Formats: sequence, structure tokens, C-alpha cells
Amino acid sequence: MIAPKTIQEVYDTAKIEDVVQDFMPLKRYGSNMKGLCPFHNEKTSSFVVSPGKNIFKCFGCGKAGNPTTFVMEHEKFSYVEAIKYLATKYNIEIIEKQLTEGERQARQVNDSLFVVNDFAKDYFQEQLFETDRGKSVGLSYFKNRGFREDTIRKFSLGYAPAGVNNFLKYAESKGHKNEMLEKLGLSKNNRDFFRDRVMFTIFNLSGKPIAFGGRILQSDKKAPKYINSPETEIYNKSKSLFGIFQAKSAIGKLDECMLVEGYTDVISLNQAGFENVVASSGTSLTREQLRLIKRFTPNLKILYDGDKAGIKAALRGLDLALATDLNVRICLIPDGEDPDSYLQKVGATAFQEFIDKQAKDFILFKAEILLEETANDPVKKAGVVRDIVSSIAHIPDRIKQSMYLKSCAKMFEMEETDLMGALNKVKEQLEKQNRTKKAASQRNQSAKIADPTGFPSMEPGQHGGEVFDKKPGPSSKPKDEMQEKDIVRILVSGGDQAFDEKQSVAEYIITNIADVISLFESAEYQLVVNDVQKRLKDKKEVSSKYFINHMDQKIAQTAITLIQSQFDMSDGWAERDIHLQTQKMPEFNFTEDSMDALKKFKYKKVNQLILKNQELLKKSQDEDDMKSTMTYLKVDVKYKAIRSQLAADLKIVIAPFMK
Ligand code: CTP
Ligand code: MN
Repeated sequence: MIAPKTIQEVYDTAKIEDVVQDFMPLKRYGSNMKGLCPFHNEKTSSFVVSPGKNIFKCFGCGKAGNPTTFVMEHEKFSYVEAIKYLATKYNIEIIEKQLTEGERQARQVNDSLFVVNDFAKDYFQEQLFETDRGKSVGLSYFKNRGFREDTIRKFSLGYAPAGVNNFLKYAESKGHKNEMLEKLGLSKNNRDFFRDRVMFTIFNLSGKPIAFGGRILQSDKKAPKYINSPETEIYNKSKSLFGIFQAKSAIGKLDECMLVEGYTDVISLNQAGFENVVASSGTSLTREQLRLIKRFTPNLKILYDGDKAGIKAALRGLDLALATDLNVRICLIPDGEDPDSYLQKVGATAFQEFIDKQAKDFILFKAEILLEETANDPVKKAGVVRDIVSSIAHIPDRIKQSMYLKSCAKMFEMEETDLMGALNKVKEQLEKQNRTKKAASQRNQSAKIADPTGFPSMEPGQHGGEVFDKKPGPSSKPKDEMQEKDIVRILVSGGDQAFDEKQSVAEYIITNIADVISLFESAEYQLVVNDVQKRLKDKKEVSSKYFINHMDQKIAQTAITLIQSQFDMSDGWAERDIHLQTQKMPEFNFTEDSMDALKKFKYKKVNQLILKNQELLKKSQDEDDMKSTMTYLKVDVKYKAIRSQLAADLKIVIAPFMK
């Protein structure tokens, strides 16, 4: 873990304009800077960077954040990766927090696994470029396949020499233990695992080598065409995609991911300018791989080669992609070719035209291909209909579902209502399955809470990198959200302003809501308010800078959203800032603003307290508990007095039945 001290230093040092300009140009625009948004396609600049506030905001797509969230989004880094990246950029020493012995050992093993793989990668590359055999056999193989030298380097391709243990001996002479090499699958029984093969390096999302694939040079019938590294602590095949590191930024920019089957397809397409390509390395797609893609784009285009039978088998696995809510399109590469060979045959322009023309929506493609074979046999056709309807049932989006029903009804020459009936049946079954699963996991959950240590288990991803992954669920918004939001907006944008001679705005607000401070219905806002309360207790500042750069990513994101929302009213920050130099905007009149927000907030909360108290009152009356009844009555009077005062100030008329 990175020490909080390091994180704080990163936050204090990182300048949004520096960080952004490492990836894209910006132009001055008043006191701000502007550029083309890297997160969506646009022709006019609506991406604004405010050096003063140290935040960015796109008025086109709405993305906003601080330096850390910018690199998280742009590079798809985790929180920790982003902090490390910024620390390196600003020469900040990364101090790691004390790890437990177990954590330390696991970390050491992982680190050294990466180190050894990195060493192996360099070795294979050196063999390819620097040795006679490497050049004459390996390099010429790649060149014969049309790969340019820059491509070969971009993908860290290499050559593993033919001898029994060349690599092993060399690695040991450099201090690497055979035990480690075996663990990584680089050696086996004291011999090199990869011998006389051209090598493909598999990287993880942040560009570390996690595994290798080695391809045989001649089409020898006896040996397999490819051999691959085994699964290890750092290589989980079902979670990895070949090419993701090289493709990730293009996938985001083009808002589409192309999926092919082979290593060579990825490399070949990439070289021709199709940079948003990954491969599942010969296995069927897994849920984790689909989720990985979904982090960058909801649009997946699959380029299939192979025969009809193979394709039909592959289609069955794709319901998983629909369930991940990906928009899946399929493009069939002509018989006998794969994406690599077809591209090299027709050239990039024709290839692009071909996939644009050929790519078909997955469901319609599946329906078409299955329907072809039924030859109007009604029994077979019914089977196909069920198959397609069950695919449609996996789509979480109802609007999409009904659109598919329409097109399929046409295709099958059926009534839409009949299809709908079939769909509802399948959905019922799916829901039943889900309920059983849920019940099982709930049983698990309650077992966990009943753990004798008394600590409920911590949810994964409560901190850091999950900010962008989690969309708020469909649950309804709390009733008092407006008032709560207002209070928090004032706290994060002007908490450190003077309310009067004696106190800051934050102090005023927090003292005044002390009695209802734990009553926030929004967990997000409660988090901020608790934080402010603690800061004040510790006599620390609560400036907007503090919140924008908050170490808790959730709080930082809440603050950024609230602070930038003040600027949404006009379309440019620059005009706004100029305006502000001469005249105070209402949002900056913190004293009045806070008093008003506070009264509205308290009015809502007092109403809640009154209702709660009245319930207690009724219960005590029912139970003839005189003593409690008296207390609750007194409380009722007190609350109502507060409410009347607030109502008078706010010019609210209280309905007679509520009095
Ligand atoms: N694969 C594998 N082991 C094999 C065959 C294939 O791991 N024995 C995986 C590799 O990741 C390969 C992918 O499946 O890239 C697709 O196989 P194929 O189409 O045969 O490979 P290509 O990459 O197209 O190789 P080439 O063009 O050199 O024949
Ligand atoms: Mn191929």
C-alpha cells in the first residue's frame, strides 16, 4: 500500500494543466485552458481545464475530475497506478505503508515474477535482433509475414533460441533462480520451455509482461503451433486479453473494441492502423474479459474467421456479452482467410470498407444464420426461435429488448406478441435462477456477519479505483436530496470563507446542524459532512482545494461535481471568471447562502424528527406510559416551535393538519 503521506504529496504537487498536457494540447482561454475532449469525439473544444481550481471539466460529455482522476480515466489506471504514475512524474518518493508479513511476501513474489518476465522479454528481443540465428530465422519469419520493425518492437516480439537450456543458463548467470523460472513456465525439468520459436509477449493493462506465447517456425505436424505460459500468480488467462495494453487508448477514443482470434491478427491489424484490436488467445470469451472491454467501451465488434460450424458454436457463448450489456456486432471474414491474411490480401482501405459493410448486429446475425438451416421445418424453426429469444432475454436494457423483438418477429414471420410471450417465459426462468443465486449468497452473507469476531466483512472496492466503475443504481433518490446537496455544496465550495467575524461558514453550518447531523439520507453527502466535522474538530482547514484533492476518491468526486455544477449555468468558465472579478455571484455570497440552505435543510429534518417523535408518543400513549408520554409531548412542542420559526423565516405556510 502507498503511504497516505505520499498520496498527500502527490495531491499537493500535481498540476492539472501539466498532467493533461502530457496527453493532449491545451490553449489558454481567459484564466482557464481549453482543448478537444479526450473522452469523446468532438470537433470544437469543450474540454476546459481550470488551473486555479486544479480540475478539468468537459462541457460536452460532462466528465470532470482532478489530476488523479484524469490519469485514471485517460490511462484506465487503478487508483494506486494513478498515484504511482503522478509520483514518478513529479519525482515524489513512493513510500509504501507497512505491510503484514503475508502481504509483504506475496508482494515480493509478484514483483519478482514481473522482474523475471521482463528479463525474459528483453532476452528474447535481444536474441531476435542481435544474434545471427535470431536474425536469419526469427526476424526474417516476422518480416516475411509483413511485420515492420517498429511493429515488432511495439509488441515486444522475440525469438527463443534452439538449444536445450540457453535461456536457463543465461538467467541463472544473472542471478535468477530456476525455481522462479519454473514457476513462470519459462523452464521445465532443467530445460528451456520455449525453444526455437518466435515469441509473443502478453502484457497486462499497465504494460507489464505477464506471459508468453511461442510459435513454431515450420509447420511441423508433431509439435503444437503455439505453446503458452501456464497460469501463474500474475497471469490469469481468463482475465487477460492479448493486445489490451497497446489498444486501450484507441478503444476509448474510437468507442469500439475489435476482437479477433489470434496474436498475429492483432499485430497485423494494429500495423495497418486498426489500433483498437485485442484477442482472446484462442479461448472462448469469459465474463472477466468482457468486463475488461466494457471498462473502455460498450461497443464490441467481433471479427470471425472459420467455418459455419465453428461460428455456430461460438455464437452460443456470446449471450454472456449481451448480459454484460455490450452492443455486439459480428463480421465474418471470407472463407479460408483470417483477419491478418485478409487484410494483407486486400489492403487497409478495402478491409475497412469490408468490415463497415459486413458487420451485423449479433442477434440478427445469429437469427439469420440459424434460420438458414431450418429449411422451413417448423420443429427446427421453433428451436431457433427459442434460442434467439433466450439471447434477447439476456439483454438488460428493455428498450433494446423490444426493438429486437420487433425485428425478429419480421424475420421469423411471427406475431410480436407471440415472441413477447416466449420472452417473458424465459425471463421468468432467468429471474428464478437469479433469485436462487441471490438467496444462496445472502445466506453466505449473514453467515459472515455472524462471524464471532463481530466484524462484518468489508466490501471490496470501497476505496480508490472504483469511482468510475460503479454507476449509481436505479434506487430512488432520497427525498431530502436537494437540501442535503445544498448544504454539502456550500461546505465544499466555501467552507473556509468567513461567515462572520467569529466563525467560518463550515463552523456555522456544522454547529447549527449538530442535532441532526447524522440524519443525512444520502450516504454520499453524509460522508462529506462527517469529514468536515472531523476536520473542524482537528482544527484543520476545509477549503475547496482540500476537497477536490481529497484522498477518499468518493469525497473528491462528490466535491468536484458540486463545485463545477456552479459553472454549468453559463457555457464558459472564462466569461464567468471575468464576470466574477467585478461582481459577486450569489454562490459566492456564502453568508446568506449558508443561512438560507441551512434553514431549508433544518426545516426538512425537523419535520422528520417531529414525525418520529409522534410515533413514539403514540406508542407510549397506547402503552399508558405516562412518564414517556409527557417527555414526548414536551419534545413535540419544542420541535414545533423550531419549525414555526424556520417556516416564518422561509415564508413557508405550514398546513393546518400538520400542526
Ligand atoms: N492458439 C494456441 N495454441 C495453439 C493454437 C492456437 O494458444 N496450438 C491460440 C493463439 O493465441 C493463436 C490463436 O489461438 O494466436 C488463434 O489461432 P490461429 O488462428 O491458429 O493462430 P494465428 O495467430 O492466426 O497464427 P498464424 O497466423 O501464425 O497461423
Ligand atoms: Mn493467422
